[in-house]
Amino acid sequence: MKIHLYERVWIGASVAMLMLFFGSIAVGAVGSNRHPPSHIETIDPTGVLSDARFATQGVRTDDAGRVHAWIVGLTFVWLPAELVVPADTPVTFHLTSVDVTHGFSIVRTNGQTMVLPGYVSQFTTTFAEGEYLIACNEYCGLGHHDMAAKLHVVPPEQWRQATTSREAPDTTGLAALTPEGSHAGH
Ligand code: CUA
Repeated sequence: MKIHLYERVWIGASVAMLMLFFGSIAVGAVGSNRHPPSHIETIDPTGVLSDARFATQGVRTDDAGRVHAWIVGLTFVWLPAELVVPADTPVTFHLTSVDVTHGFSIVRTNGQTMVLPGYVSQFTTTFAEGEYLIACNEYCGLGHHDMAAKLHVVPPEQWRQATTSREAPDTTGLAALTPEGSHAGH
């Protein structure tokens, strides 16, 4: 069978492109510790703010002392608008949306996931001390470019002191649909 020269070129180019794409995925997964959020947990998107998991958004510690951040995305804000977490400590993020698909992206880190109504996205990562911008990286409407939040990563001792001096969050009430309303009890 004779394969025309141009056909050979196209076959070669296709194979080279596939190798390049697989290679870039491998480099991202191994080199930058990027992984798909594989956790499957569902939620009623119409009842997010009365769901025990998301009624109070923000950073909480579980019984084992692990740090969790509970975040809700809606057009066009992240609740809460500011997060404080300890440096060099694994933080597990739990995210969901009450309306459309958003993209939660902690800029210049490997912390990133799609945020879909009906599902709870989850990932765990650690941060170096500093201030990080959280952006929405899935087009979600006219205010998409305004959908930002801030992540403060502070030394663990400082974070623990601030946490113990803070009063326990009120998990009984519904958080209002405003960024201010997310700081329940303050
Ligand atoms: Cu939310 Cu773009």
